[in-house]
Amino acid sequence: MRAAARLAAIPEYFFAGIRERVAQLRAEGVDVIGLDVGDPDQPTPAAIVDRAAAALRDPANHRYPTYAGLDELRVAMAHWYRRRFDVELDPDTQVLPLLGSKEGIAHLPFAVVDPGDVVLVPDPGYAVYASGAVMAGGEPHALRLRPERGFLPDLATVPDAVVRRARLLWLNYPNNPTAAVAPSEFLDAAVAFCAERGILCAHDAPYSEITFEGYRAPSLLQSPGALEVGVEFHSLSKTYNMTGWRVGMAVGSAAAIRLLAQVKSNVDSGIFTVVQRAVLAALQEPPEAVASRNALIAGRQTRLCAAFAAMGVDIPRPRATFYLWAPVPGDGDSRAFAAGLLHRAAVSVTPGVAFGPGGEGFVRVSLTAPEERIDEACRRIRALAG
Ligand SMILES: Cc1ncc(COP(=O)(O)O)c(C=O)c1O
Repeated sequence: MRAAARLAAIPEYFFAGIRERVAQLRAEGVDVIGLDVGDPDQPTPAAIVDRAAAALRDPANHRYPTYAGLDELRVAMAHWYRRRFDVELDPDTQVLPLLGSKEGIAHLPFAVVDPGDVVLVPDPGYAVYASGAVMAGGEPHALRLRPERGFLPDLATVPDAVVRRARLLWLNYPNNPTAAVAPSEFLDAAVAFCAERGILCAHDAPYSEITFEGYRAPSLLQSPGALEVGVEFHSLSKTYNMTGWRVGMAVGSAAAIRLLAQVKSNVDSGIFTVVQRAVLAALQEPPEAVASRNALIAGRQTRLCAAFAAMGVDIPRPRATFYLWAPVPGDGDSRAFAAGLLHRAAVSVTPGVAFGPGGEGFVRVSLTAPEERIDEACRRIRALAG
């Protein structure tokens, strides 16, 4: 079979390779602890599952869903936004449910990028920003996230010739993979930068609720002018332990939402109505429920940071996300360090280069394994320290 040329520029999704390698080791009898993929180990809260179970029995929910999603779902999403960020959204024009945020992120360039247009993407960054751009015929331009700048891109250093061709800017805070957070002043400046240059500012915020020690992540849509030039992506996946349900949302600029909805109406037929009804239950959860899940992650941060410190790896405690961004000691070779952990401790972490060349020098540790596996990983890492 002859592959389409565009596929050469988008290798198979990195985590597919990791899953395969870990599965192979497990088949050989190695007890691998997976701290690689960011997939919550805890179950979806019972109230959400119960709502879905009840909805499943209603034949009205078995038919094609609407493209735009249930009215009450978009209203509930807009309410959640008001409650959480004090931002008013029109549920009819500024809210679009997605089949997981990955789907919307991959499709957005089809709505706003022509062949030859530039898409500004963070490096290191979530791979779909660049692969979505490539599939739409766009050219990703990497914005380096450096530790000395708090992993915030320096938009002023993007060459004018690149900026002139740019149609879309991707930002992602709290950040995957670096776990960095962005002050609202940075988001304000990014919106102003995009407004002046006719660029759509897309902020991917699936980790906005996974925060610690009182930190509250801002929304891009709180920035002046963001509702004209900005769109924000959220996900139910990480906040509510719902990765398998595939549901998220895009909110913001009515023009961007309309264009993305136009693409999607040609690609998918909406979210299973049973899942939409479950989301209604999720969005009604009291904030304490999210806080208690975050407390669990914070405990894992403490234990793993201490274990890594014992082997000379000092990891700054992140204020958000369920990742640790660990500096690789010595020559900073992230692949070699990850391979060493896998072979000597049977602990699987993700080499930073998997997120782009800018991720070299770090590995990403995901805190989404059950408590006893986290403890066992800590024991093994400490044993390496000897
Ligand atoms: C930064 C970022 N964006 C988007 C996603 C996709 O989330 P989902 O498609 O489950 O909503 C992920 C998942 O790992 C992510 O890390």
